Amino acid sequence: MTNILSEVHSKEYHMKKSEYNFCIFAPLKNINMTTKAEAFNEIVNERRSVRNYDENHSYDKSIVERSLQRAILSPNSSNMQLWEFYRVISEEKKTKVAHFCLDQIPAKTAHELVVFVARPDKYKQSIKFNLDLINSDDSFEKESRRKKRRDYYKNKMPLFYTFDFLFVLSTIKKLFVTLVGLTKPTVHEVTSINKKVTIHKSIALAAQTFMLSVKAEGYDTCPLEGFDSKRIKKLLDLPRKAEINMVIAAGKGADDGVWYPRKRYGYNEVVKEL
Ligand SMILES: Cc1cc2nc3c(=O)[nH]c(=O)nc-3n(C[C@H](O)[C@H](O)[C@H](O)COP(=O)(O)O)c2cc1C
Repeated sequence: MTNILSEVHSKEYHMKKSEYNFCIFAPLKNINMTTKAEAFNEIVNERRSVRNYDENHSYDKSIVERSLQRAILSPNSSNMQLWEFYRVISEEKKTKVAHFCLDQIPAKTAHELVVFVARPDKYKQSIKFNLDLINSDDSFEKESRRKKRRDYYKNKMPLFYTFDFLFVLSTIKKLFVTLVGLTKPTVHEVTSINKKVTIHKSIALAAQTFMLSVKAEGYDTCPLEGFDSKRIKKLLDLPRKAEINMVIAAGKGADDGVWYPRKRYGYNEVVKEL
């Protein structure tokens, strides 16, 4: 399978115009796959960033609810779940958020906008959530693992997520891991900037689960990072420490919703086998 995939991906693949409106990615067309893999392949390949929505098409809001339920199952760093998802459904609020998304057409024409938000300020609540889970009767963890994980949430997580106003703690932590790293493999990403990256990585995974799910439900999305985060935060009544990760436009794509052919680097250009 890997060889066939390498072969079909070896050329840079450029979709033909006739193919790119909600179509199947040609290189994987003739490969035998299980039904599940085929269905997944179709969803991945059919998802495009759709930039114009058919506002007259019927729209079932439960699709977004189901897709967010699935997004919540996404892998996330240490199960801290420092995320929130704001569904902007009312016309009035949607118009405002679309304006704060720099009046981009996908935001203006979407049936709904979902704002993916990072909540680093909620780390204590997440630590408690995980400790409660470890201590709960439902847990089937071995006692030795339970102990290790309890220590992890009680000691490591507060140290990683605590606020570090002047970067003092980050500098001390960085020096410490650099020294430790001289003699053994060590995690070097311990500063408050790394903390932001960690949280946003997890939210991006949730965003991808969400977009694939919406596609699987027969609808479309467009992720947006062109927005005024300050204005959106104010509208959503978010605290200063909250951060906007992405705004995702969702709805039924119009016939002219895909604006560009999809072109990617070839497999051999970006995949390195060791
Ligand atoms: C983090 C992120 C931010 C993006 N921001 C915007 C945006 O503000 N406006 C826009 O039209 N597209 C935006 N996109 C969509 C990308 O341009 C698009 O995913 C890329 O060109 C590949 O096309 P495809 O999604 O159709 O495969 C964004 C995508 C990502 C992942």
